Amino acid sequence: MRSARDFYRPLAVGAPEPVREVPFRPSRMIHFFPPSVEKMLAKVPDIAPTVDVLLANLEDGVPASDKEAARAGLIHVAQTVDMGDTQLWTRVNSLDSPWCLDDLTAAVLEGGEALDVIMVPKVEGPEDIHYVDRLLAQLEAKAGLTEPLMVHAILETARGVANVEAICGASPRMQGLSLGPADLAANRRMKTTRVGGGHPGYLVRTDPDPDDADAPRTTYQQDLWHYTISRMVDACVMHGILPYYGPFGDIRDTTACEDQFRNAYLLGCVGAWSLHPVQIGIAKTVFSPDPVEVAHAKRVVEAMGDGTGALMLDGKMEDDASVKQCKVVLELASQLASRDPDLAATYDL
Ligand code: GLV
Ligand code: MG
Repeated sequence: MRSARDFYRPLAVGAPEPVREVPFRPSRMIHFFPPSVEKMLAKVPDIAPTVDVLLANLEDGVPASDKEAARAGLIHVAQTVDMGDTQLWTRVNSLDSPWCLDDLTAAVLEGGEALDVIMVPKVEGPEDIHYVDRLLAQLEAKAGLTEPLMVHAILETARGVANVEAICGASPRMQGLSLGPADLAANRRMKTTRVGGGHPGYLVRTDPDPDDADAPRTTYQQDLWHYTISRMVDACVMHGILPYYGPFGDIRDTTACEDQFRNAYLLGCVGAWSLHPVQIGIAKTVFSPDPVEVAHAKRVVEAMGDGTGALMLDGKMEDDASVKQCKVVLELASQLASRDPDLAATYDL
């Protein structure tokens, strides 16, 4: 057992101290790019200023024959591209792959100064985070880094979901979790063949008409991901880390992508992955509070004075609890607005 007093001590001599709070930086979209593809590498300086997080993907989606080229592409970006305010993340290969150790070693020793977060896929339990935690500390010490790298886990196995609270609390390095609906569906043996989103077969149907058994009955498609996202959000909030929706694979279906992102936003997620430039704008809109909600929240907070008691506003009851919700919206709006003059003007903050 580790003493609580040791929790914030570095795990290697000379490694930086772990942070106590996850620093807030906008991360409405984690934009994936394949660093093994020359054409994509060339676009990085133009894409970087348009996104909150740029992620060099080394894992699934990169063919086995390109794994080394992808790693080299990540190092190239880390060493040569000025990212400005944009965060640079990487997704390394899974812990059971032959590439993970070299990915982590190269990322920290050659790109560690520029990297903010390391995304670890297929995390199944706290033991996976403990392995990465110690290894990163050793590498940080060797590289002489002064800021600790944060870790982001993907929730994409049934065991990972069953252990989600322990994963979130496994290290002060934990920055957040993303839902990985494609791998999770496969691992759970769900009978879907898509990357995220709903399924027309997952529905509820109204009762039959007692006077006409053959009359059409309305159906409503249900959200396949509701349970997992809600569980992930609770685990993240309990441990002070950030929840994200992951990928939405149907690039042409921008409407359903927006719906999926918004469901996640309303349930508490702070961002989602973008797999194509068209999804960047969707994530930006969805994960920035709606200006109408911001104006309403401001009105409620002003009307509620010290935030206690109850009053009627436009026929609706407001009290200590609704004012707290309004403050959540306002806090996010002002955090985002402080880095985005267009949003600041829209919100009038
Ligand atoms: C993402 O990695 C997923 O499996 O959905
Ligand atoms: Mg996956």
